[in-house]
Amino acid sequence: MELAHKYKIAIIGLGYVGLPLAKLFVEKGNTVYGIDTDIRKIQMLQKRQSYLSDYKRNDIRELFSGKKFHVSHSFEVIEKADVIILCVPTPLDEQMQPDLKFVINATRCILPHLKRGQLIALESSTFPGTSEEILKPLLEREYRTGGRDGSSASLFAGTDRSRVALGAVANSEGRRRGESGKHFVRKRSLWYRI
Ligand SMILES: NC(=O)c1ccc[n+]([C@@H]2O[C@H](COP(=O)([O-])OP(=O)(O)OC[C@H]3O[C@@H](n4cnc5c(N)ncnc54)[C@H](O)[C@@H]3O)[C@@H](O)[C@H]2O)c1
Repeated sequence: MELAHKYKIAIIGLGYVGLPLAKLFVEKGNTVYGIDTDIRKIQMLQKRQSYLSDYKRNDIRELFSGKKFHVSHSFEVIEKADVIILCVPTPLDEQMQPDLKFVINATRCILPHLKRGQLIALESSTFPGTSEEILKPLLEREYRTGGRDGSSASLFAGTDRSRVALGAVANSEGRRRGESGKHFVRKRSLWYRI
């Protein structure tokens, strides 16, 4: 689908998910600010080198060719973005629950640079309810008091149905309530449409 309006999109985490997503948005004419805390990755991109097995040097050159892809380890560019997409790791912990430390850390990094009207989406795989129950309160609590203009951000959840089902199995609260993966998918889809 071709969007009439072109957006400025910040992608947080330029790994196997974030970098191809950046490529997709750039190919559609949007401007992408790629941010990664791994300075080695940023330096490689600046030298037009690839660190992903299925990305060749030419793919990286192409990504930068239209001057619509910018990379940094600094979060200041968040201020320019219409949309912010979190693509950071969520490794499973010893209890087989997604470890949210990278997601929470990335959320805290964007907080000082948020402004009214931005859309924030979580692309990382996680259990259903992460955006609504963990990130939304964190953003609302800290952004209302710490944000520059005192306004709240809008938070939407990006869905990955296969991972939603997996998350439902890993979600102990859901297991206690006897909820099935299907129920979680339906619940989350509804929330997504709001
Ligand atoms: N790789 C896949 O095929 C795949 C498929 C579906 C879902 N996912 C999910 O997508 C998410 C990302 O996976 P991935 O494979 O791209 O991981 P990855 O490890 O390849 O990339 C994540 C990147 O995030 C960066 N990062 C970590 N903390 C950061 C922070 N605070 N700020 C900015 N950057 C930060 C890391 O340096 C790394 O470059 C995970 O939740 C994963 O489960 C991955």
